[in-house]
Amino acid sequence: MMGTVLVTGGAGYIGSHACAALIEAGYQVVVLDNFCNSSPVALKRVGEICVTPPICVQGDVRDRDCLDKIFHAHTITAVLHFAGLKAVGESVDLPLEYYDNNVVSSLVLLAAMQQAGVTNIVFSSSATVYGDPPSVPIREDFALSPTSPYGRSKLMVEDILADWHVANPNWSVCRLRYFNPVGAHPSGLIGEDPQGFPNNLMPFVAQVAVGEREKLFVFGDDYATADGTGVRDYIHVMDLVEGHVVALEYICRQPGLHTINLGTGNGVSVLDMVKAFEHASGQSVPYEIVKRRPGDIAACWADPRLAETLLQWTASRSLAQMCEDAWRWQQGNPRGYA
Ligand code: NAD
Ligand code: WQD
Repeated sequence: MMGTVLVTGGAGYIGSHACAALIEAGYQVVVLDNFCNSSPVALKRVGEICVTPPICVQGDVRDRDCLDKIFHAHTITAVLHFAGLKAVGESVDLPLEYYDNNVVSSLVLLAAMQQAGVTNIVFSSSATVYGDPPSVPIREDFALSPTSPYGRSKLMVEDILADWHVANPNWSVCRLRYFNPVGAHPSGLIGEDPQGFPNNLMPFVAQVAVGEREKLFVFGDDYATADGTGVRDYIHVMDLVEGHVVALEYICRQPGLHTINLGTGNGVSVLDMVKAFEHASGQSVPYEIVKRRPGDIAACWADPRLAETLLQWTASRSLAQMCEDAWRWQQGNPRGYA
């Protein structure tokens, strides 16, 4: 399936890489982003990477008029819905902002798609919907119990999409549950550009390696894991977005409601990540063990077999490659897009 894809949140970390992968695969791309957590420079850079740049619309997904204009001006065949707020800690302090941004935007988008006759949507969900899993690896049929307003907003949208699909069985709806996306485009031109203090491990490690920060704070070394630090399923952002391209092709052939983990199936500890990053960058990453971060779990990794079966997709890039690509981006852009 080729055609024009609307990418909401396309200027963001994952969205910008998705734009590059979609254009590479032969799609035309229209981005809708309000730049609340991103820079228009990211889209300019996508234009440098790809032969055809994405078409950019600055606007809010909750603005129905804006969506109607996009659907009127372009023959959109599918929507990748990345736009949303994503900081777990911030969502505890600002629950209304999170529900408004993440849930309302999805409602407005579905209504606009229905009016325009666009029936293919891929939604960015998260492994956070599983909460603290009873065991690992995590399969898609595990119980869902998110523990933050952010996670609950993702689950609400998943439920809305399921109800919507019951009412509209001709639609193709894909709920992709990402594990921990890291790394950057191999060009070093686009990457993750967190505003202020990074919440996530990899950008923090990268900022320590480049000398922007003095040391990493490791949140606990007394978990029931091999080295006591938290274990996660880090997935290269390029693998993740290539998974979106194949998911899009799959759902366009196969109407239905699909729910798929995107992970590698490998567990990596905080200290494994520090070592891998030191090796990739040739820099030392000093760290200090501090107390656990509230709400963190010991270990979380995907059972990736459903994606393999349905999409014939597996993550292929190594931890070393994730670190090398993140390092290239970090070195070339020590202050991100600013
Ligand atoms: P990001 O913040 O870099 O990108 C989100 C983009 O959406 C930003 O460009 C932001 O400006 C835009 N946006 C936010 N609200 C908007 C609105 N109302 N209208 C228009 N644009 C809006 O985040 P990301 O890491 O690229 O994540 C993309 C999606 O994937 C999010 O839905 C996130 O919840 C989900 N996700 C991310 C991770 C992760 O670790 N990065 C993991 C699982 C799921
Ligand atoms: C990874 C590990 C930390 C920072 C979050 C969201 C999740 C998803 C991905 C959106 C943990 C440790 C971290 C630091 C550390 N996002 N750590 N020092 O918490 O697995 O997932 O991002 O959907 O919903 O919760 O990722 O990168 O924050 O942490 O020691 O400065 O690194 O304790 O073990 P997490 P993370």
